Amino acid sequence: MQLLDGKKISEDIKDEIAVEVSQMKSRGEKVPHLAAVLVGSNGASLTYVGSKVKSCEKVGFESTLVTLPEETTEAELLLKIKELNENSEIDGYIVQLPLPKHIDEQKILMAIDADKDVDGFHPTNFGKMALEMETFLPATPYGIMELLERYKVETVGKKVVVIGRSHIVGRPMSILLSKKGYPGDATVTLTHSQTKDIEEITKEADIIISALGVPHFLKADMVKQGVTVIDVGITRVPDVDSAKGYLIAGDVDFEGVSKKAAFITPVPGGVGPMTIAMLLKNTLLARARRAK
Ligand code: GUN
Repeated sequence: MQLLDGKKISEDIKDEIAVEVSQMKSRGEKVPHLAAVLVGSNGASLTYVGSKVKSCEKVGFESTLVTLPEETTEAELLLKIKELNENSEIDGYIVQLPLPKHIDEQKILMAIDADKDVDGFHPTNFGKMALEMETFLPATPYGIMELLERYKVETVGKKVVVIGRSHIVGRPMSILLSKKGYPGDATVTLTHSQTKDIEEITKEADIIISALGVPHFLKADMVKQGVTVIDVGITRVPDVDSAKGYLIAGDVDFEGVSKKAAFITPVPGGVGPMTIAMLLKNTLLARARRAK
């Protein structure tokens, strides 16, 4: 069994980005500038946005964190987005999801300038991805593609099962893995809450990507020998013995499944750090495009 070490690979990618940034600096060029918008104080979102900003500093990017109160109205958020679209200092930005319930998420994502949409959530960018045109790829699926590629996991002609059809992970993952050329060219089955007899489907899979959010859902008896398993789950489960009062649990019963797997990601330290590294890569691309 080979561990797919997202923490290590993400450090490698950040080192590569840092080298590029220092070259930009030595040429007297503007360095990439990422902004993140956080509405409210969802604990997990605070952690993620904090890591994104910290990673910017690490690679030499400029970063701006915009925090808005929970009560922010849709109109106020749209105004902030207009400001970020017009601010020529900012190369790319993200609006951390989920947003408070009184704000229409789709309306907000549509308002982001597609050329600054480093999350790749704008319909224009999502459409470009589906048409295999160059664009910002959503960071989590992009990170998984990078992980498969750097570990040379075979995908061409393989049976891939994606669990979960979210717009952020499952759906784009199914599109990327079925695209032409490695690390795509797979035969993809996208499963979801209405799927019947899911274990009959997962048992046939060469590669399983689980983005469900149900701790330890995927068990050893649901997979075949030699499977590759990518665990996107990051659910907080209460734990009185840990300092934070919770543990991060993946979708996969790692103990059991790892005994049958050829490749498997740990949680934490698998997909999570890759997401941030790919967001930085998208921001580097946004700067390069704007410099043209
Ligand atoms: N919430 C969970 N994942 C993501 C992500 O990749 N980007 C944003 N903006 N919000 C998220």
